[in-house]
Amino acid sequence: MLVPGASSQALTAALASELGEPLAAVEYDRFPDGETLAAVPGFDADTATIVASTASNDAYIELLQLQDAVREAGAEEVTTVIPYMGYARQDKAFEVGHPISARAVARAVSTTTDRVVLVNPHEDAIADFFDVPVDIVDAAGLLAEPLPELHNPLFLSPDSGAIDIAETVRDAYGSGETDYFEKVRHSGTEVEITPSETDFEGRDVVITDDIIATGSTMSEAVAVLTDGGANRVFCATVHPLLARSARTKLSRAGIERVIGTDTIERDVSDVSVAPAIADVLER
Ligand code: R5P
Repeated sequence: MLVPGASSQALTAALASELGEPLAAVEYDRFPDGETLAAVPGFDADTATIVASTASNDAYIELLQLQDAVREAGAEEVTTVIPYMGYARQDKAFEVGHPISARAVARAVSTTTDRVVLVNPHEDAIADFFDVPVDIVDAAGLLAEPLPELHNPLFLSPDSGAIDIAETVRDAYGSGETDYFEKVRHSGTEVEITPSETDFEGRDVVITDDIIATGSTMSEAVAVLTDGGANRVFCATVHPLLARSARTKLSRAGIERVIGTDTIERDVSDVSVAPAIADVLER
């Protein structure tokens, strides 16, 4: 039986349809002291697959409650699919006295599940933080599907760390060059981008990244490209978090369109990762 987190309902329904499995209904409550309750009163199965992106603190509490609820209801085997794993970017202690937050949440999730499935976590090494087996789904290639026909295309990552995503999207599109910029992050919202030597004049450019959070990285990269005479600039991301004023920043920078998946359900979630997750679950 599939159990959806509140922010992954469409994706879980698509996955249930791919797998031909029933979908549980989750019920919610909030107590006067602010505590939340997520329950699955109709759960009645030996196996549970919980699908919950954790883009907020509440989503993590909800996930832990759902894991515990299905165990209480008799599930013998629990799989936890985290399409977008929040806190994954806090994968090291940045200063003395800081936690490794990704490890802390991974350990908590591991206590009540037998297996975890992640989609393009910030780094694949995040898998080592869990105490149970982890499968990683690479959904980057899906981002090529909604792209129109491109003129002299360039697939670009805003930093060297995301070049794999640019290459995967280019391969899925079928043609084009790849390249990357250099990025220095000065704060949570301040990013400095240094362009490469590539000529952008008149070209269609697809900037690819694992996540658009505040949009600072993408909007700075877009501005460099439009200043350099690029024709159309598309932003393709696996996780369209689009926090704060990300959309405004991207619009002001002059993008053509944002393309994302449904690991975070947004109006730009043009492609579903459900078939790719189903493939991994059926292995
Ligand atoms: C960083 O390494 C990531 O790949 C993204 O580039 C970054 O997290 C995006 O964040 P923002 O949209 O806030 O610039």
